[in-house]
Amino acid sequence: MCGIVGVLGTHQVAPLLVESLKRLEYRGYDSAGIATISDGRLDRRRAVGKLVNLSDLLVHEPLAGRAGIGHTRWATHGAATVANAHPHRAGTVAVVHNGIIENFRELREELSKDGYSFESETDTETVALLMRRALASGKAPQEATAEVLGRLHGAFALCFLFEGEEDLLICARKGSPLAIGHGDGEMFVGSDAIALAPMTDRITYLEEGDWAVITRAGAQIFDAQNRRANRAISRIQVDATRIEKAGYKHFMAKEIAEQPVVLADALRHYTREGGLNLPEDIDFSAVDRVTLVACGTAHYACHVAKYLFESLAGLPCDIDVASEFRYREPPLSDRSWALFISQSGETADTLAALRYSRDKVAKVVSVVNVPTSSIARESDVALPIMAGIEVGVASTKAFTCQLAVLTLLALKAGQDRGCLSREQVAAHLENFRCLPGLMNHALSLADDIAALSEQLAEAQDILFLGRGPMYPLALEGALKLKEISYIHAEGYASGELKHGPIALIDNRVPVIVLAPRDHLFEKTVSNMQEVMARHGKVLLLSDAAGIQEAGAGCWKTLTLPQVPDLFAPILYAVPAQLLAYHTAIAKGTDVDQPRNLAKSVTVE
Ligand code: G6P
Repeated sequence: MCGIVGVLGTHQVAPLLVESLKRLEYRGYDSAGIATISDGRLDRRRAVGKLVNLSDLLVHEPLAGRAGIGHTRWATHGAATVANAHPHRAGTVAVVHNGIIENFRELREELSKDGYSFESETDTETVALLMRRALASGKAPQEATAEVLGRLHGAFALCFLFEGEEDLLICARKGSPLAIGHGDGEMFVGSDAIALAPMTDRITYLEEGDWAVITRAGAQIFDAQNRRANRAISRIQVDATRIEKAGYKHFMAKEIAEQPVVLADALRHYTREGGLNLPEDIDFSAVDRVTLVACGTAHYACHVAKYLFESLAGLPCDIDVASEFRYREPPLSDRSWALFISQSGETADTLAALRYSRDKVAKVVSVVNVPTSSIARESDVALPIMAGIEVGVASTKAFTCQLAVLTLLALKAGQDRGCLSREQVAAHLENFRCLPGLMNHALSLADDIAALSEQLAEAQDILFLGRGPMYPLALEGALKLKEISYIHAEGYASGELKHGPIALIDNRVPVIVLAPRDHLFEKTVSNMQEVMARHGKVLLLSDAAGIQEAGAGCWKTLTLPQVPDLFAPILYAVPAQLLAYHTAIAKGTDVDQPRNLAKSVTVE
C-alpha cells in the first residue's frame, strides 16, 4: 500500500527520496511523486507507474532542495493518474498521505462552498486544502495542523511540507503507521523503518493519534489531545531491514527458498529440549474457545489452525476473515481468547477486529512477523513468527512460519487441556524438527514444477482440491496462483466437488490434488477419480505410497517426502508456492509486485 518518506537533509534530497521510495516499493503502488523546497520555493514531480518513470522525469526536470517528501500511491479514490498522485499541493503546502479520510466528501463540500476548487479525485487533496485554509487564516503551521487533524475522520499517516520552511516537516499518525528517523543534523519520516534503514538506525515509532513537528534539531511529539508526548528512540537492527534478492531472480523465490531456515528459527525460538517454550501467559487451561481472525493468506493459516486446535486440544475454534468479523458483531465470551494473525501487523481490518475483541475476551494474542507493528503492540501477547522481512507481495515464508507457530500453540493447548501428555508433545516436536529437512526435499522439486508449470500457464481455470487440513492448503494454493499468475483458480474441499465445481471439469481444466497418504487419502482419491472420469487433467501431489496407489491415470504427479499428518500443511505449502511462482514466470507476470495488489493493506 502507499508509502511515505520525508527528509530534512544536509544534501540534495531528491535522490534520497527516490531511493527510500524504492525500499517501499514492495508494499505495492501504481504512481509516485516527490516535493522539495529549494530557495524557499515548493515544487513537485509526479509520475504514473513504476518509480523508474519518476526517476526519468527527474532527469529531465530535476528538483533541487535539502527538504522534501515523497510517496508511492496505491489508488483508492480515483485512478492512477498524475493528477491523483501525491504529493498534493494547495497554495504553500504539500502533503503525502496513507490511508483514507472517511469524511472527505463532507469536507470537499465544505471547502467547495468556501470557494476552493479541486484538481484531483482524491480524499487527500481535502487535507491539503484544509491546511491551506488554516494557514490563510493566519495560523502558523503547528497551530494549523492541530486544527486540521481535528477535522479528519478515518485512518491516516500524513506528512506536510510548507513553502518557505526549509527546516520543517509535520507528520501525523492515526491508524496507519509512521516512524521518525534521527540522523546527525538530519531528520527523516517513513512509513516503516525499512524505508529509513540506509539513513539511520535510530527510530521513534509514533503512537496512535500522535503528530510531530520535525526540524533538523529533532522532533517535538504531541499526542491525540495535543499534549507534549515523550516517545522513545529505539535502535533497529539494520540487518533486519536488509532487502536484497541475494542472487535470486525474485524476492518470492528467495523467500520460498528461505523457509527451511526460518522455520527452524521459529522452532528454536518456541521450543526447548523436550518441550515447548512459549511465554508463560500462554496457558489454555481455562480457555473455552478460541477465535482466529486474519486476512488473505494469514486467514488460511487460521483455517489450518482450526483443524489443529479442535483435533489436538478439543478446543472449539472459530475463524473468520477480519473484514467480516468486525461488522457481524460476534458475541465473544470472557473465557475465550482471540488470536489475530498478520504478517505485517498493520492490516486495517485485522487491527479493527482486534480492537473490537479487546474488552470482550480474556486474552488478545497476535501472531505477527513485525514485532513493532500496531497489532503486536495492541495485543496482550504478541508471538513473532521469526520469518525475517518478507518483501514479495504474495506471502510465502510468513505463511509457513504462521503455521509453525499456530501448530505449537495448538500443541500447547492440547497439553494444557490434558488432551496430550508432555511425552506426546515431545514426540510431535521431534517430528517437527525433521520438517526443515523435508522442506529442502520439497524445494528440490523446483525443476519438475517449472517444467509442468509451462503447461499450467496455458490454462484459463485451475482447481485445487484437498481434504481436512489440506482443504485450506487448496484455498491457499489457488490464492497464490491467482495473485501472481492472474489465472483464475479456486480451492475446494474435495467432498464439495460434486456440489458444483464438477460442472467445470473438462480436459482443459487442470485439477491439482493435495493428498498426502493420510486417513483421508482414500476419500480424496475417490473425488480425484470423479475428475478423471470426466477427462479432467489431474496433478496429484502426494508421497511415494500415495503416488504408487493412485498415480495411474493422472496427468502428472509430484512425489513429496512422507510427513507426519500434523506437519503436512507446512510441507505441502512449498510445492503450492512453487507452482504459483513458476506458472507466473512462464506467463511473464510481475511476480514480486503483481498488479493491483499491496503487501500491507492499511485501508478497509
Ligand atoms: C495482502 C497481502 C497478502 C496477505 C494479506 C494479509 O492482501 O497481499 O499476502 O496475506 O494482505 O496481510 P497480513 O500482513 O495481515 O498478513
